[in-house]
Amino acid sequence: MTESNARKILVTSALPYANGSIHLGHLLEYIQTDIWVRFQKSRGHQCTYVCADDAHGTAIMLRAEKEGITPEQLIANVKAEHEADFAAFHIAFDHFHSTHSDENRELAEYIYTACRDKGHIAVRRIKQLYDPVKSLFLADRYIKGECPKCGAGDQYGDNCEACGATYTPADLVNPYSVISGATPIEKESEHYFFKLPDFQAFLQEWTRSGTLQEEVANKLAEWLDSGLQEWDISRDAPYFGFEIPDAPGKFFYVWLDAPIGYMASFKYLCDRRDDLDFDEYWRPDSNAEVYHFIGKDIINFHALFWPSMLSAAGFRTPTAVNAHGFVTVNGAKMSKSRGTFIKARTFLNHLNPSYLRYYFAAKLGSSVDDFDLNLEDFVQRVNADLVNKLVNIASRTANFVVKGGGVLSAECAEPEMVQAFIDRGDVIAELYEKREFGRAMKEIMALADRANEYIQLKAPWAMNKEPGREAEVLAVCSVALNCFRQLMTYLAPVLPELAAKTQAFMKLDDLAWDSRKTILLGHAIDGFTPMLARAELSKVEAILQETQSELAKETGLAAPAAAASTTKVAAVKDKPAKSKNKGPELREDGTEVIADTIEFADFAKVDLRIARIVRAEHVEGAEKLLQLTLDIGNNETRNVFSGIKAAYAPQDLQGKLTVVVANLAPRKMKFGVSEGMVLAAGPGGADLWLLEPHEGAQPGMRVL
Ligand code: MSP
Ligand code: ZN
Repeated sequence: MTESNARKILVTSALPYANGSIHLGHLLEYIQTDIWVRFQKSRGHQCTYVCADDAHGTAIMLRAEKEGITPEQLIANVKAEHEADFAAFHIAFDHFHSTHSDENRELAEYIYTACRDKGHIAVRRIKQLYDPVKSLFLADRYIKGECPKCGAGDQYGDNCEACGATYTPADLVNPYSVISGATPIEKESEHYFFKLPDFQAFLQEWTRSGTLQEEVANKLAEWLDSGLQEWDISRDAPYFGFEIPDAPGKFFYVWLDAPIGYMASFKYLCDRRDDLDFDEYWRPDSNAEVYHFIGKDIINFHALFWPSMLSAAGFRTPTAVNAHGFVTVNGAKMSKSRGTFIKARTFLNHLNPSYLRYYFAAKLGSSVDDFDLNLEDFVQRVNADLVNKLVNIASRTANFVVKGGGVLSAECAEPEMVQAFIDRGDVIAELYEKREFGRAMKEIMALADRANEYIQLKAPWAMNKEPGREAEVLAVCSVALNCFRQLMTYLAPVLPELAAKTQAFMKLDDLAWDSRKTILLGHAIDGFTPMLARAELSKVEAILQETQSELAKETGLAAPAAAASTTKVAAVKDKPAKSKNKGPELREDGTEVIADTIEFADFAKVDLRIARIVRAEHVEGAEKLLQLTLDIGNNETRNVFSGIKAAYAPQDLQGKLTVVVANLAPRKMKFGVSEGMVLAAGPGGADLWLLEPHEGAQPGMRVL
């Protein structure tokens, strides 16, 4: 990386509220961002990752009151907890700040004043519901009452859970304040508004200038077309926040100063680091890049209000806002009563955070689709990929090198293969850049498969038993470890802890993306120590159990008698897993149930052969099938329908080698006759991999 093509990149994740713990839903975002940042750093760019606690608002004020401490004490306690959780999940902020800080006050006042001076602030009196006992204006979520339509009690102020009617809090029958129980009264006060409609034309253009995912831009277009509303940015005292300049007793609404917290956190860092210049990143003609990673629930704040405020105040706007979907667990919304509202800390009490980082990476794409954390699939996937595939490469070979003197061979026995691993790094880098982490992991695991095939074929453990073959053993294991190093370079953004262990045992100065381009020859390594244990399903159950007892503690109720059964991993499932998605069956302790054994004679009946996919085509009207034409050697071709459409595009299959069951009785299907079956592995759907034989294989060869 030369100075000239090194980018300057500022990255943020949304600021977590300072009134609750970090949970798995949050972690999707922080892990996604952290992976992207680590990748950029590995590429040699100046990438800076900042975040902060979102410390203002009524909820924080009320919780502090309940705990009998000041809001300042509360947010300090929560900040310490958040920072510990993030560190444990290897989320490496360059700085984690608080919105309740001097930097944020100054910037918020500056931006507000600039907007006001340009005429973008309106002041007018509005009526709101008010708690006369607490002397507090009530946000909608603090008001309950009876539904004006069906009379159901205990309904919130915006819609009825019983009949689905929507209304405003003023329509509720017998309304009461959730805080004091008092009957709210209507009260008038002066409010400050940001005149968002002034920015209509600016936003029409900005939201379509490549700053947003297309699906997000389309959604916003609906709002933009139906006309924008002025945004109420003030709250009356008492409120925990910043007082508005020249408006005593009025405070900035928490969402006004929250995004400014991104700048404040960065400002704090710039004031302490010589290599970072605040203005260089934030002036309107800046060449630096600014990215916000957020959840889909807070898009309007980041893609409407925020760019408008920035442009009004004379700052640059974000390069892009990257939104992700919501985490569901076993197909359903995270829920306290199901025991799936899992806190970061609870997870850490039982499982290695690297598992979660990998699973998130393996399933994340660049879309705003929701993300399902299927707990069975989670255990199976991390074991299959990380333990069985990845770590296996090093654990099967490193000790032979150590026994043979601890130095890798001076010449590379398979330069082409290692070069192929190096070359693939460019494709993988592109996928990381586009936040297509799932596809990147797939590429990396395909390489891991190749390394394992190579080791299996050479079987150094067998060679090692024959005297005089020491040099060969060393050569094979040196190739394997070179491949392993490439893989760990590619995985380091996802698995920093494993990367550090790799660096230590392979004595590597760094795992920067470009460092992979050299092949390690005559390089001394250390002994190999176990890197990662298998994930156990029983630990997942322990997490669910603990989550439920937390709930019981919070609500003061004993855990339900049925807790034992509802906390089983399988019992929280909403729908039974489709059998094809199931993967191997696991016992309660996470070990695999091995299928009934068959006799060798039975196995020998199966004619497994190498086939070349000469043509792959879509099947009109079929959701899952592709039609394959296979060359199975001896001038014989076969027509096979295969349910791999979600995992492969036809053009990706053409020319590939795979393994086919050649003597399967032909089967008449809806779309034609299928004359065989190709073999694939994986949990199913998009995560399915065709078995791909080594390159030297030829169609027609029998698989033994
Ligand atoms: N404080 C605001 C953000 C201010 S940014 C200037 C906030 N805080 S939050 O704690 O509720 O959420 C922080 C981030 O976590 C948001 O981007 C939110 O979308 C994300 N998530 C919270 N729950 C989530 C899931 N269940 N799944 C995925 N992301 C989730 O919003
Ligand atoms: Zn109703």
